[in-house]
Amino acid sequence: MASASRSLRLAGRFTAVPRPFALRTATASVSQRAAFTVSARRFKLGVVRETEVPVTVYNPDSKGAPGSSPEHFTISAQPSRPVEPVVEEVEEVQPLSDEVYAQMPRTLQKMSVKGKVIIITGGARGLGNNMARACAEAGAKAIAIFDANQELGDESAAELHQKSGLPVSFFKVDVRDGSAINAAVQNVVDLYGAPDVLVNSAGIADSNIKAENYDHQMFRRLIDINLTGSFLMSQSVGRAMMAAGKPGSIILVASMSGSIVNYPQEQSCYNASKAGVIQFGKSLAAEWAKHGIRVNCISPGYMDTALNRVPALDAQKKIWTERTPQDRLGAVDDLNGLCVFLASDASGYMTGSNVIIDGGYTLY
Ligand SMILES: NC(=O)c1ccc[n+]([C@@H]2O[C@H](COP(=O)([O-])OP(=O)(O)OC[C@H]3O[C@@H](n4cnc5c(N)ncnc54)[C@H](O)[C@@H]3O)[C@@H](O)[C@H]2O)c1
Repeated sequence: MASASRSLRLAGRFTAVPRPFALRTATASVSQRAAFTVSARRFKLGVVRETEVPVTVYNPDSKGAPGSSPEHFTISAQPSRPVEPVVEEVEEVQPLSDEVYAQMPRTLQKMSVKGKVIIITGGARGLGNNMARACAEAGAKAIAIFDANQELGDESAAELHQKSGLPVSFFKVDVRDGSAINAAVQNVVDLYGAPDVLVNSAGIADSNIKAENYDHQMFRRLIDINLTGSFLMSQSVGRAMMAAGKPGSIILVASMSGSIVNYPQEQSCYNASKAGVIQFGKSLAAEWAKHGIRVNCISPGYMDTALNRVPALDAQKKIWTERTPQDRLGAVDDLNGLCVFLASDASGYMTGSNVIIDGGYTLY
């Protein structure tokens, strides 16, 4: 879409020091002190609150060889004011070139989706659109967007093609329409070859409807889109993978609402639909492992997408944010890394998982 943009949130960091290294250093000094204590009580009393943590960093020299002299410095351990995240508009989509891929270490090559044909439902906007861009940057051979919104779908496919130079197609498909899905998947096979990956992000949400007032037709419609749609898409793409004798990865976008009950809004139908998606994904993973097809779910928490940008939710969004340890809603590109990982061969032994990405919301 013309106005589509990704926001890259760079979490504020108080130092350029690799965090695990700093943690290791701090841990080591605590355990050295513990070795000189004689009782648990004495140990407790003896804890030294460091104001500065000494750090030693070993860097390669300018030619990339292991450097000889380590760098020593200290970092402040005083609580600092939280740094406001920097929000940067990122318009470019930079596809992974053959030259760059060839130079990547094996581990990173495995974490790419180099040469893969990827179908993404709900890719016209929101989380699906951002995951489509991420797949383009991570090496996809071709991307097919399936979405019920003709105008946005056309715009987003044109934009992704123009920015990445990759083959991108848009299919106006309602994920409730089995025949249309089958025809579209066959067309993808004809155009680019059998799909390697399905990302099923199409979905709708109804919230703030009490169960006692829920219109049964609305209930059926939501289940039909979120759950039956996940089934119809997976069946069609799975059959194409099996017919081609190709291993594949199916990624179903569920929700944390499939595992917890949201507060304060009542949304029994949405929650039930996503719980269904998670259990469907697990069942499919077990059934299709023998075909080399992996099935995993991504379960986002509250994300800052159009789905939630409705004035009626403003007051509730404050409550959602307060209950999220990271103190923010998820950014529209916060699922990208996991999506690429699950699509890639790096997650080859992972199937039937449900990965929650929620800024910590479900911890409480
Ligand atoms: N935004 C959140 O807070 C959040 C949280 C958890 C899970 N999710 C899930 O993530 C997925 C994407 O959400 P989003 O926030 O990007 O939503 P969105 O509304 O921005 O995008 C959803 C896309 O799906 C398409 N779509 C809807 N119904 C369809 C149908 N019947 N057939 C084909 N396409 C259809 C829409 O046209 C739209 O392009 C959904 O499954 C949603 O339930 C979202």
